[in-house]
Amino acid sequence: MSEASKKVAIIGSGNVGSNTAFLVALLGVANIALIDVAEGLAEGRALDICQALSILQLDEDVAGGQDFALLKGAEIVIITAGFPRKPGMSRKDLLDKNAAIIKSVCAEIKEKAPDAIVIVVTNPVDAMAHLAWKELGFAHEKVIGMGGMLDSGRFIHFITEATGVARSVVQAVVIGSHSDQMVPLTSFVRVGDEDSDFPVKESVLSGAAEKTKHGGAEIVKLLKTGSAAYGPAAALSTMINSIIGDEKQVFSVCTLAQGEYGLSDIYVNLPVQLGADGVGKIVEIELSEEEEKALELSADSIREMLSELG
Ligand code: LAC
Repeated sequence: MSEASKKVAIIGSGNVGSNTAFLVALLGVANIALIDVAEGLAEGRALDICQALSILQLDEDVAGGQDFALLKGAEIVIITAGFPRKPGMSRKDLLDKNAAIIKSVCAEIKEKAPDAIVIVVTNPVDAMAHLAWKELGFAHEKVIGMGGMLDSGRFIHFITEATGVARSVVQAVVIGSHSDQMVPLTSFVRVGDEDSDFPVKESVLSGAAEKTKHGGAEIVKLLKTGSAAYGPAAALSTMINSIIGDEKQVFSVCTLAQGEYGLSDIYVNLPVQLGADGVGKIVEIELSEEEEKALELSADSIREMLSELG
């Protein structure tokens, strides 16, 4: 039996769902239930992970199946179910198809895990997180989208690629929509520690920011039949860890803005403290004028998508 007393349920057992399950199990913070409507998929993934954990001598429980009853007792529910992007497709192309999926899984969550914190991954994630919040009727602090943290990781990657510095000494944050209208905060990038701040040229930062905006699409294009999985799984497992441990670490996640950064009544990626109650304080970073304008446009693009949803 596992010592972990918490349970994370993951709806959708594709590459993102199953890699997240594996990483969460490796971190040892929770037992896991994988759910997928495709016959055998979640069960097969769960078996594979359990056998991996046996080799690694780890005791987390990982169950898998088609039955949404597996949601019962979960403190955190991750929604990865949905159609992924194909090469050349925008996240917006997925809007209607995935909205129907979100509505049906939210009905299951509402019934079987009414106290859970829900993290939405399904694209277009900003609109899907907003929709899930409406459908669930939960407090907004408990319905979160995963996007900004993944984009922040990509921004760090492209900065380290261009400068050669270690990833671990780069701090970078991306806010706004999880789309090519995202806002990498070049004015906030920190490289080095307090004693040795490493100045990075504006042109390097703007080059990295541009690559970040297309970071997800670049992977979709290379893979041809899939999209990123390890990055999303890393972001999700880190978010889960902060929630379960009530660590209140600050990450960029998709949350309801209520006046912060001049935005209201819209789900958008902003830096927040993540703890046991879900989203805590939204951290307000001083933006440059250019970043403020870009964030406004980014929020407008989310509003446009929401109005298409009707
Ligand atoms: C990506 C998907 C998860 O950015 O939206 O790779």
